Amino acid sequence: MEKLLLTKSDLKFVPESYIFPSESRPGNAKVPLFETIPVIDLKEEPTKLIPQIINACKDFGIFQLINHGIGEKLLQDVLEVTKEFFELPAEDKASLFSDDPRQIFRLYTSIDYMNEQVHYWRIALRHPCPVEEHIQFWPQKPAKYRELVGSYSVELRKLSLCILDLIGEGLGLEPGYFREKTELAAAHLMNMNHYPPCPDPSLTLGLPKHGDANMITFLLQEMDGLQVLRDEQWFAVKPLPNAFVVNIGYILEIVSNGKLKSAEHRVVTNQNVARTTVGSFIYPSFGCQVEPAKVLIDDNSPPLYREFVFKDFLATFLIDTNSKNKSPLERYMHEQT
Ligand code: OGA
Ligand code: NI
Repeated sequence: MEKLLLTKSDLKFVPESYIFPSESRPGNAKVPLFETIPVIDLKEEPTKLIPQIINACKDFGIFQLINHGIGEKLLQDVLEVTKEFFELPAEDKASLFSDDPRQIFRLYTSIDYMNEQVHYWRIALRHPCPVEEHIQFWPQKPAKYRELVGSYSVELRKLSLCILDLIGEGLGLEPGYFREKTELAAAHLMNMNHYPPCPDPSLTLGLPKHGDANMITFLLQEMDGLQVLRDEQWFAVKPLPNAFVVNIGYILEIVSNGKLKSAEHRVVTNQNVARTTVGSFIYPSFGCQVEPAKVLIDDNSPPLYREFVFKDFLATFLIDTNSKNKSPLERYMHEQT
């Protein structure tokens, strides 16, 4: 099967269907390091921490988070067991493959393999959390996967709500806004990414330019590959040991009425070693009504976006991702008069 192509590591050339058009492929240009990406230390005093987070989310939409309280050993174990999952023999993984982008649990390569023009140079495993509620969707192999990734997802969930509380406070929202008041952060999805070595990284992308269709994303990574778009220029994010890369998604940008920015990013491949990352995505519930928070709206700040149901946003997201014209945010903007 063609979609299993990437599980073969002995490819000597890039197959035609994985070559991006010249305007979107990375090419051989050297991408500068993103030296100024904010580093947020969660041990900092809240009076300093909150403005630091808000400024990072306003200016960059992305930051690295250190001293976040999740143990180093657990982070390493989760990366390790994820690598082991992708190294399992193809027959252990074949039954998990799905081409259906609406499938919440699946092993897949690109987003919409059947309909897209170019395939991404990656394999991903996606499943919902927490493990107790969705155990049937979690892989049974490797044996330690459920236990390790399960513990990690519980810690990550707590951390994400803590960061959202700080963001809510910084924006002036009522306490607990992202918890019981709304269903904006009700769902938690994990996406494990594996980017195999690529014979020619100048032609391919692990993930093309995109913003995340969620509230906030926590990425665990240990190798170069992530790049962020800033002022129409790509910058490489240097992984910090045991840190998370945290980025704002489209939904939080909308809820903040454009005060916070989602960061557009992409993933480049490398020639020699596979790269594995663990993404944790905090989402609204499917039925959640999304709109700019009322307290952020007044005569001087009219709502930039109209109200919608999250599942409708998700449904159009795939179309938007494949279209060259409109960004998913533009689709939900109020008409300019
Ligand atoms: C994503 C993503 C980045 C990475 O999964 O949405 O942007 O480096 N991942 O894997
Ligand atoms: Ni992303």
